[in-house]
Amino acid sequence: MTHILGIGGLGYKDSAACILSEGRLIAAAAEERFTGTKHEGGFPHHAMAFCLERAGIATRDLTGVAVANNPWIPMREKVLRWYGESFFRSRTANVYNVFKDESHRLVEYLRTLEGLRSAGIEIHRVPHNLSHMAAAFLCSPFETAAIISVDGRGETSTSGIGRGRGSEIEVDAVSRMPDSLGLLYALVADYLGFSELDDEFRLISISPTGTPTFVPKMREVVQTAADGSYKLNPEYFGFHQGRPFLSERFTEVFGQPHDPNLPLEDRHRDLAASLHAVVVDVVMHMAKSARLRTGETSLCLGGGLVQNWALVGAINDAGIFEKIYVPPAPGDDGTAVGAALWLSHYQRGEPRQNAIQRADFGPAFPESEIADELERLKLKASKPNDLALAAAERIASGQILGWFQGGAEFGPRALGHRSILADATDPATRARLVASVKARSEFHPFGLSVTREAAAKLFETMPESPFLERTGRLKPEAQRQLPAVAAREGNVRVHVVDDARDALFCELLRKVGARTGVAAVLNTSLNQPGRPVATTPRDAIGSLYTTGLDAIAMGPFILAK
Ligand SMILES: [Fe+2]
Repeated sequence: MTHILGIGGLGYKDSAACILSEGRLIAAAAEERFTGTKHEGGFPHHAMAFCLERAGIATRDLTGVAVANNPWIPMREKVLRWYGESFFRSRTANVYNVFKDESHRLVEYLRTLEGLRSAGIEIHRVPHNLSHMAAAFLCSPFETAAIISVDGRGETSTSGIGRGRGSEIEVDAVSRMPDSLGLLYALVADYLGFSELDDEFRLISISPTGTPTFVPKMREVVQTAADGSYKLNPEYFGFHQGRPFLSERFTEVFGQPHDPNLPLEDRHRDLAASLHAVVVDVVMHMAKSARLRTGETSLCLGGGLVQNWALVGAINDAGIFEKIYVPPAPGDDGTAVGAALWLSHYQRGEPRQNAIQRADFGPAFPESEIADELERLKLKASKPNDLALAAAERIASGQILGWFQGGAEFGPRALGHRSILADATDPATRARLVASVKARSEFHPFGLSVTREAAAKLFETMPESPFLERTGRLKPEAQRQLPAVAAREGNVRVHVVDDARDALFCELLRKVGARTGVAAVLNTSLNQPGRPVATTPRDAIGSLYTTGLDAIAMGPFILAK
């Protein structure tokens, strides 16, 4: 039997592991879910151990390892490209900084891989951008499709346009460092005082609250080329000690950076809106180029920027492609899967059988383990005869409910396995959810989980969004029915659920619908403040007692405060 281990995100962020047995994805998880450090980028030891255990094998049983990037390359790139010629003349201190940043990861990486190699296991390096593209295409149900990746940085290339056919991927056009939309996003997030990695999501969330008045100026910053690629205008950027920054020209044009201790001003919101509009334009330009070049009618999207639901929604609404697929983990965690699929299908010729329509590839806990944990913590939970009914009654009566069921989701979204749910028809819910659960206030974008049959009635067109990966447009009457959803011009982040994907969650939504009139709930991730999404029952119990959750449905149990 073949077992391929995939490793991704190494040396950047969101490192992860996955395993394919006989070419089929059977387990995948990000390292952060085990270490508790958001966006963990170190070697994914815990995730790897989980995957081996799920496959029921030891390391020596692996028949191949695919690593989704070469950690030497970011170091070399920093030295050669960002420092430029002056690096070699004077800045010896910078050498130390580069090595200090990267060396501990490299040592860990090399030591682990050497162990695998000495056990006779073949190790394949798959380029980072190709891994993003492979994750997008080889997880999709399409036999042929255009592929676009839009990323921060991965080795040298930052974005790509290509085409997938069967198990093959041709890459046509790429943008390379320092021309990176992901880099621009991160720098503008920093400029707006959103300094952590995660706060790029705040930037996405505030952009609908501004007016895109800076679009003409922002177009000076990002310029598109005839081949579908783009470039950043170097006048607006600089690099110091390997770190990119926005130049004085940027502040001359856009004003001083926002002090994070002060409230956001309109101009900050307008800048976020303008950046979003220009990024949408650039990716639209890539999509048109990909459509023309390939003649394909389906599109697969990958890369870190594709985690932006409003961007995916806009590309979808433009109608350039008939169908769009985004995998559950389009970011760096998903490159583990992309690299493993590339090795399995392209290099080893195992048939494609991984149209990924679910995301629950992470750790799962049987009833006995949940019961043991409750017992250990001396917590008394009920075990209702009809769990979905008991949970639906709580949601319909205004409670905020944790929902911990089955395997943890792979990727950044909570999709009804590690979720917090609340009534979407009550106008007060959103404020209560913000105040009691998500300390990070106005910016938090809650998704809407909805059954397929309810979505058909509520949305202008059926949003094909199984992973909360895009927006859909609500009909005007649906906006009135769902006042807790913060819809801008009717657009809402949506997660469409059906029985084939998740029968229990569907049953819950239907039972909520029988009480509220709409088979839909607000959905956000189950986590403790500042920590990654919950993995274990203990994580979930921690969320219950560190937030304003009223109760949590965990396996067959309901634990209430
Ligand atoms: Fe990436």
